Amino acid sequence: MTTRHDEGPVALSGRVVRLREFTLDDLDGVRGIVGDDRVTHFLSFNTRTDEQAHELLRMIVERARERPRSEYYLAITPLEPETPADRDKAVGFTRLHRTNEYSGRLVYAVAYDHQGRGYAGDAVRTVLDFAFTTLGLHRVTAAVGPDNRAGMALVKNLGFTREGVLRDHVHTNGAWRDSVLFSMLAPEWRTARET
Ligand SMILES: CC(C)(COP(=O)(O)OP(=O)(O)OC[C@H]1O[C@@H](n2cnc3c(N)ncnc32)[C@H](O)[C@@H]1OP(=O)(O)O)[C@@H](O)C(=O)NCCC(=O)NCCS
Repeated sequence: MTTRHDEGPVALSGRVVRLREFTLDDLDGVRGIVGDDRVTHFLSFNTRTDEQAHELLRMIVERARERPRSEYYLAITPLEPETPADRDKAVGFTRLHRTNEYSGRLVYAVAYDHQGRGYAGDAVRTVLDFAFTTLGLHRVTAAVGPDNRAGMALVKNLGFTREGVLRDHVHTNGAWRDSVLFSMLAPEWRTARET
């Protein structure tokens, strides 16, 4: 049975990160992610100016209130921050876009200075649990650039299946870029979780 999570704000706990709704107070965190070429190089959009980051944050907060809800753009916050200033700070995001009743598209990113600590892997694992159990999705996809070694390692580690290449999938940094499409199905996720 499919469950719609229309009720309240989403808050999810992983092993090393917590995922929560963005608020308008997260501008610093959001700027640190989408305002950095080293991160956006691998995403489907160009680096955002401060003003654009602010507009994006406003849209995220607004869309989170829509019902039925189709976008779950969640802030990744470290459970054990390196410094007190990082307590509850949005150091990354996962974006799950529910494209129809059964399917979702996943995007994820972590601020450059916070990469390599297992945050994204834990966040994506936690969001997949949410997608397949709470939301009752059947299929979740992730499109990763062919030269994105970290992004690719992450989905492979979690057991996603490579489906193929989406040619000229995104236009970013002035050029067309292919993506490699990966997918996870609900029964596969359940099996992976049990082993
Ligand atoms: C991809 C990304 C989210 C990974 O974030 P992270 O918090 O550093 O990820 P993790 O620490 O959980 O590591 C994930 C895996 O990537 C591997 N990895 C990390 N950096 C790597 C690199 N430069 N080259 C190869 N593998 C790398 C890690 O070793 C880990 O695999 P492991 O579990 O086998 O060790 C981050 O690099 C990022 O934000 N990139 C830009 C946005 C992006 O590419 N998003 C994905 C497309 S939607």
